[in-house]
Amino acid sequence: MKTIIEPFRIKSVEPIRMTTRTERAAKLRAALYNLFGLHADDVLIDLLTDSGTGAMSAEQWAATMRGDESYAGSPSFERFQAAVQNLMPFKHIIPTHQGRAAEAILMAIFGGHGQNIPSNTHFDTTRGNIEASGAFAHDLVIAEGRDGQSNHPFKGNMDIAALEAFMDQHGDSVPIVMLTITNNAGGGQPVSLENIRAVAAVAKAHGKPFIIDGCRFAENAWFIKQREPGQGDRSIPDIVRDCFAMADGMTMSAKKDAFGNIGGWLALNDDGFAEQARVRLIQTEGFPTYGGLAGRDLDALAQGLTEIVDEDYLRYRVRTNEYIVERLDAMGIPVVKPAGGHAVFIDAKRWLPQIDPLHYPAHAVACRLYEIGGIRSCEIGSVMFGRQPDGSEKAAAMELVRLAFPRRTYTQSHADYVIEAFGELQAEIDDLKGFRITQEPAIMRHFTCRFAPL
Ligand code: F0G
Repeated sequence: MKTIIEPFRIKSVEPIRMTTRTERAAKLRAALYNLFGLHADDVLIDLLTDSGTGAMSAEQWAATMRGDESYAGSPSFERFQAAVQNLMPFKHIIPTHQGRAAEAILMAIFGGHGQNIPSNTHFDTTRGNIEASGAFAHDLVIAEGRDGQSNHPFKGNMDIAALEAFMDQHGDSVPIVMLTITNNAGGGQPVSLENIRAVAAVAKAHGKPFIIDGCRFAENAWFIKQREPGQGDRSIPDIVRDCFAMADGMTMSAKKDAFGNIGGWLALNDDGFAEQARVRLIQTEGFPTYGGLAGRDLDALAQGLTEIVDEDYLRYRVRTNEYIVERLDAMGIPVVKPAGGHAVFIDAKRWLPQIDPLHYPAHAVACRLYEIGGIRSCEIGSVMFGRQPDGSEKAAAMELVRLAFPRRTYTQSHADYVIEAFGELQAEIDDLKGFRITQEPAIMRHFTCRFAPL
């Protein structure tokens, strides 16, 4: 059969409250045009993030009942640790409440004043944790990764020549080399096994630990299986093991490819670094056999890790985005190609060249999309990145709208609805006006700033 179906049936549902365009326009005004300010009940299809928003399976809910809440030595931790080590063969597995907590602990060990940490592209919380420690975050993704129209199969790859030059230049001030799979900031684009191997080799040649941010490791492995020569016949767990066997550690947000609503971990091979990490963990998260989580969460994640590597799931997962990208592209709407693993990205700079980047064209698209269809998306452009540390404003490199799909949550008719809403939006595109920010905090302004339409 050619039709790729959702490989699950639904046992428990959450109703979507229908609203009219007039109601949504009023809600948006009341939220001062910040989509983070909306009540989730007023959203029909919530594509704000794929983080912690997915559906747990019946087996995961069953596993939560097995959860053991002992403060120390919980069997839930043993099951969690075994499930992680089955895919990622690291010696020390340190549970945290989410990915950024693992990053904070990692930076307490490796960050610090004047240090320089390269990656393909650091996610914003990783960058935040690096910079808060006094270090500098550097993004060395290949040139194709910055080009929304390049059809390169692995647009998340690190530029190896740039990494080598970087290591030569910064030498002793580089504590670790990082790599984000898939590259979220670059549109959920994958990194090839060959590239992971090359990054590992550069790190090793310079005697630096190599740490993978593995949030979307299963989607990345699926792309490797589909696109990398010689990988097509291998199982997903096999490919995953290969990726992580080359690293010295990892950070993880289990809210992505572990099917968790909460959770994360830090993994390390080195005994001394792991000891430092556990001391920090006890200070900031909790005892090493639960970290920042309840025993029931650890059991849900252990089960989730056995489900996320299922090929029928991954085929459906990645196909959802491809399906939307193909149709929007055919309609002439500028989308980032090829489709990434967890999200569809719209290039608002190309779609709305008449709106100045500092009048936030991607924000204008996101607001109108909500008005038309009740769809909540996320601006990744000058609202998110435009404010400089000195308070001045500078346009971001790209003005994108991200539609991130929660896992196992929406169906194909929801995808068709999103496509239809974009058709309506296209018919009104010339009417769209920009926005100005009327009030903003000093950092992370996109979460809480207020807007007025121009
Ligand atoms: N690394 C990557 C690549 C991420 O995408 C995220 C989160 C994190 C680290 C931090 O993990 O949220 O568990 O603390 N990304 C979410 C998103 C928030 O919407 O893309 P966390």
